[in-house]
Amino acid sequence: MRIDILCLFPDMFSSPFEQSIVKRAKDRGIINIVIHNIRDYTYDKHRTVDDYPCGGGPGMVLKPEPIFEAVEAIKEQISPGEIPIILLTPQGRLFTQQVAQELAPCSQLMLICGHYEGVDERVREYLATDEISIGDYVLSGGELAAMVVVDAVVRLVPGVLGSQMSLNTDSHTDGLLEYPQYTRPKAYRGWSVPSVLLSGNHGEISLWRRREAILRTAERRPDLLRKAILSTEERKWISESLSNQR
Ligand code: ADE
Repeated sequence: MRIDILCLFPDMFSSPFEQSIVKRAKDRGIINIVIHNIRDYTYDKHRTVDDYPCGGGPGMVLKPEPIFEAVEAIKEQISPGEIPIILLTPQGRLFTQQVAQELAPCSQLMLICGHYEGVDERVREYLATDEISIGDYVLSGGELAAMVVVDAVVRLVPGVLGSQMSLNTDSHTDGLLEYPQYTRPKAYRGWSVPSVLLSGNHGEISLWRRREAILRTAERRPDLLRKAILSTEERKWISESLSNQR
């Protein structure tokens, strides 16, 4: 997968993409991340990327020309076909594990990081093919949002993580939060690992984990539970467990 990121602060990416799973995926040649400075696509002495909002008001707005030129120049270098051109903006659709799964099979992605008061509307209307928000809060720019998207997508690209198993049990993969995890020691400061996990009975362990995942989701994120795929028996079991707790 090739990921092109257009931004105003390229240096922000150097450390996060030089660590852990993203670095390993780059080193193995599974992903190629290319960072572009939008300022390199300006022609004036001051390398101007923003201007006052038409109609007045506070702040500055990113100009369309450098962004259009950057995207077009990059598209010419890579394949001419349609690729997702994603604008990171608090106005976009909410980024979830499902969106990460949707983007993971793409061979190319282009991410545009906005800044200041916003981006000229023509970028959204005529250039971007998608708009993504990583949450209902406003960041100073799209760079951090792009890092979040890249991290979540890259770990889903086949071959990046050692074991596909750990992907299947991740929180949100099946619409549930992940079950509690323990490692050794078996007892720490008097707190013991649940005995079922030490029983060696894989059927019992799977059942316990499934129930813990469901219960945890019911307690912490009931909104997720409404959409999760659960059997009638499991739904009945949830209402019983929750009413017993009350
Ligand atoms: N840029 C500023 N805030 C953002 C957000 N919440 N998501 C994506 N891009 C952003």
